[in-house]
Amino acid sequence: MKKIKIQLYTLLMAMFSLSACASCSTEREELMENESEKNEQESTPDQKPQTPSDNDVLVAYFSCTNTTKAVAEDIASITGGTLFRIEPEQPYSSADLNYNSDCRANREQNDPKSRPAIKHQIKDLDKYGIVFIGYPIWWGEAPRIISTFLESGDFKGKTIIPFCTSHSSGIGSNDANLHSLVSEADWKPGKRFSIGSNKKGIENWVESLNLNIKEQNNDMDYSKFPLDDGKNGQAPTIRLNSGYDMPIVGLGTYSLTGDICVNSVKAAIKAGFRKIDTAHMYGNEVEVGRGVRESGVPREEIFVATKIYPNQYDDPEAAIEECLRKLDIGFIDLMLLHHPGTNDVKAYKAMEKFVKKGKIRSIGVSCYYIKEIDDFVKKVNIKPALVQNEIHPYYQDLEIVPHIQSLGMAVEAWYPLGGRGHQKELLSDPVLTEIAQKHGKSVAQVILRWDLQRGVVVIPGSSNPEHMKENISIFDFELSPEEMKQIEALNRNEKHDWY
Ligand SMILES: Cc1cc2nc3c(=O)[nH]c(=O)nc-3n(C[C@H](O)[C@H](O)[C@H](O)COP(=O)(O)O)c2cc1C
Repeated sequence: MKKIKIQLYTLLMAMFSLSACASCSTEREELMENESEKNEQESTPDQKPQTPSDNDVLVAYFSCTNTTKAVAEDIASITGGTLFRIEPEQPYSSADLNYNSDCRANREQNDPKSRPAIKHQIKDLDKYGIVFIGYPIWWGEAPRIISTFLESGDFKGKTIIPFCTSHSSGIGSNDANLHSLVSEADWKPGKRFSIGSNKKGIENWVESLNLNIKEQNNDMDYSKFPLDDGKNGQAPTIRLNSGYDMPIVGLGTYSLTGDICVNSVKAAIKAGFRKIDTAHMYGNEVEVGRGVRESGVPREEIFVATKIYPNQYDDPEAAIEECLRKLDIGFIDLMLLHHPGTNDVKAYKAMEKFVKKGKIRSIGVSCYYIKEIDDFVKKVNIKPALVQNEIHPYYQDLEIVPHIQSLGMAVEAWYPLGGRGHQKELLSDPVLTEIAQKHGKSVAQVILRWDLQRGVVVIPGSSNPEHMKENISIFDFELSPEEMKQIEALNRNEKHDWY
């Protein structure tokens, strides 16, 4: 029996070699081209579901030349699942993947005991009930690193769905061959995708699995944030109506330019920020992108938001392409329309197209109040995930905030600390000062905490690492209902900017 198996394996290798020959040079070129990308592999899950649930989805994948990665991203966007890249501790070089030689990949495949080490362990595996597991076919089988992954955690009782990509081989029994690694799981039949598979086909397959995946976020109450999940230096996330998770404290970058901007982004990430907010109008997308890339934290772990400006709405595709090019971080987590304006619906629809292409994950608007947002949502196909408005204790948007939240959208504050020219007055407000003293906190921390306690995301801007630390250290105290009321009484309906 064993002998037959070995003969079959040898035959398979010979068949693949033959079929691969016709295109092996192109395929090797592809391997070479993607070498640098491969070495910058992102990893670790970045979108943590709000609450544990049996049908939360994890999409774990191993990919050397990003073919499987593209399929994994489509599955994650279709299911609202969390992406996790299985990153080898020792990256595979082109030579390691040169299957026509005695390469590392071939040696590993030939050794059933081989278990290439994985760089990052998956966090919170418990909370996922459904696990998609993706890989390239290597000599008819899943790469050995998939065995490492499946043996590294407790997958018992989960629904596991393998998917793979290959040059020409079908899935054969490589999905079933994984079953023995986790015997007490509910294994679904796997599916093989060819290079460049379209999203519709992937969507049809996911639908055919009848997984009863959790409805995306209709149950999310955007007026209440999971503040107990936060720690100083580590803001919790909320799940946007797009299915993606977003940290509720971010760095605003308005007025940060040049090296100051790059260094501020890096310092913020070092301080624990995982959300950065920029805009075309700030003129610093290049620097924000650089800061993110140079931060040492995998790109997938950082949530980057940008905005296009009304004077770009007549050619929105070009504007979006420009943002993507300047940021140069692969995709944009959130893109907003900076203000209402002529052609804003057209611009938003262009953003919708980029969502479909996978280049933008979530979309929203800024400076839309009750009438504007009510009119706008009727005209677009994808509900805005977030509305960013001016909000601070002197301009509280008391009716607008709950209205937007009731529509199933998150609210975010710009000018959370009052804005230029007004910050000094707000930060020395006697009521806020007294509350701050009671808690042993700064006024800025009290304001930011007040925002979070009413379900308002904050993005305070700063280039000062000490202030950044302070701004993200707001999870060790709580404002009482009376203090929340005292702050509410400070409202003057006083806008600090023109829109
Ligand atoms: C070591 C090795 C073995 C491979 N074996 C097969 C194979 O048996 N059949 C096949 O069709 N493709 C085979 N391929 C091609 C990959 O499966 C294919 O290019 C895959 O889509 C790459 O996915 P990735 O970009 O996510 O790494 C092999 C590639 C390598 C590097």
